[in-house]
Amino acid sequence: MNPPILVPSLLAGDHAAAGESAALVAKLGLAWLHLDIMDGHFVPNLSFGPGMLAALRSRGSALFFDTHLMLSEPQRYVGAFAKAGADRITIHVEPPYDHAAALKDIRAKGCRAGIAINPGTPAEAAEPYLGLVDLVLVMTVQPGFGGQAFRDDVLPKIAQVDRWRSDRGLDLRIEVDGGIEQATAALCRARGADTFVAGTSFFAAKDKAAFAAAFAGL
Ligand code: DX5
Ligand code: ZN
Repeated sequence: MNPPILVPSLLAGDHAAAGESAALVAKLGLAWLHLDIMDGHFVPNLSFGPGMLAALRSRGSALFFDTHLMLSEPQRYVGAFAKAGADRITIHVEPPYDHAAALKDIRAKGCRAGIAINPGTPAEAAEPYLGLVDLVLVMTVQPGFGGQAFRDDVLPKIAQVDRWRSDRGLDLRIEVDGGIEQATAALCRARGADTFVAGTSFFAAKDKAAFAAAFAGL
């Protein structure tokens, strides 16, 4: 099993102090930062765009930018996010577009690629793309907003992706996102998840070093 990675989500931090949030994550010794991009169409909310990534990069952030595109037409923005400094670009399987072409384009632009599935989407929808990604994001809430309750009905899907990974010898990470704190992360870890996005719980934690250490010990 891959070692656990805690990935704080910038969405839950103070957007007027995004650079400080990123610096805080780096100071804790965490390597990744999760960036939630919303278009007000695929999800009923708006967040920020490639300018945010570029600004964080220009301020010297060396974090791995784990970029989660909640967009109806993510293929149109791959170039912009790659140029802005995304390290991984994860796109959703639900909207209609050429998913394989978009995933190949992400890699061609020098980024790692991920495929995401909503709580109501079966794991099988992501299966055709397992050879084109190095991360499967199993959403543990309906995307669009931070601070929602974890959905334990998605746990079997994590186990399914984990079975495909081991049966086929695939080198990929399984990420969970939404309502993740220590207890829900443990449920996901037991099914094979290794990459834990935490927004609200991370920024609410008074002792962030202890919070990070708990995830390292999952
Ligand atoms: C939800 C986003 C999440 C969000 C998680 O649409 O994809 O990354 O930041 O937030 P919490 O951890 O508050 O559920
Ligand atoms: Zn996310």
